[in-house]
Amino acid sequence: MQKDFVSNLFSVEGKVALVTGAGRGIGQVIARDLARAGADIAIFSRSGADETVKLIEGEGGKAVSIIADCTSEEQVRAGLEEVIRVYGKLDIVVNNAGVCYHKSMFEASVEEFRECLDINLTGEYIVCREAARIMIDKGCKGSIINIASISGSIANIPQKQAAYNASKAGVMQMTKSLAIELVDNNIRVNSISPGYIATPMSVDPNFVEPELLEAWKPLMPMHRMAKPEELVGAVIWLASDASTYTNGTDIIIDGLYTAV
Ligand SMILES: NC(=O)c1ccc[n+]([C@@H]2O[C@H](COP(=O)([O-])OP(=O)(O)OC[C@H]3O[C@@H](n4cnc5c(N)ncnc54)[C@H](O)[C@@H]3O)[C@@H](O)[C@H]2O)c1
Repeated sequence: MQKDFVSNLFSVEGKVALVTGAGRGIGQVIARDLARAGADIAIFSRSGADETVKLIEGEGGKAVSIIADCTSEEQVRAGLEEVIRVYGKLDIVVNNAGVCYHKSMFEASVEEFRECLDINLTGEYIVCREAARIMIDKGCKGSIINIASISGSIANIPQKQAAYNASKAGVMQMTKSLAIELVDNNIRVNSISPGYIATPMSVDPNFVEPELLEAWKPLMPMHRMAKPEELVGAVIWLASDASTYTNGTDIIIDGLYTAV
């Protein structure tokens, strides 16, 4: 019997993973748990991710926090140079940074619409492109995981969020397209579409109206949001050699939300 068959199959040991927007929320948990699984972590954030670095280093892992706004080509390029300076390679990218606001098309300005697309879609595009350049240059076998959302294929209710929904639909289609572009470069590109996950974006009263939380409850067949930890298995699977024939696809993790 090969007792370590599963851990070898899903191993990310010794790989270098970049997680964007990992100062809190889903990104923080993904960064922490990729480190627990043996990867060395780089984080891109707009204002530093010291708390996440401390968390990982406190558990004996390796992490570096790099200031990089994902919407800036210059900052992303400089950030990736820093990743290479520190670790010498890049194997995994989790494009997680994102924003959401709840405004109808009559309330939101065109600038707000553009900003949401800029961060959620163009930002992921820039990181995909610049990371792929580095992976090709360094001869790395890459796995890029873009965080999309069920909002890319449904229109949530009762909140109005056309910009967010459009940006996430774009992430899924971009993922497929970039997977095709990179197919001969040993780089896979997939996306994950979470349902409601309990993070500042979805539960903090500074971001979400408390009455919305009540309105969402009856729409959830499993009667609860997920914890960010419930996304980690899929991330590790997509990052590892357990998923070498999984490419250009979207993995829905929504506790049945879109099944009804
Ligand atoms: N929470 C949910 O219910 C849910 C559901 C589906 C998808 N998602 C997606 O998961 C991802 C993480 O969401 P979360 O719930 O952890 O949100 P969050 O608001 O807690 O965290 C998002 C992080 O991204 C960072 N960020 C935003 N713009 C950035 C930029 N330009 N450059 C670098 N960093 C930037 C923020 O500062 C923040 O730290 C997002 O892409 C979100 O759309 C979340």
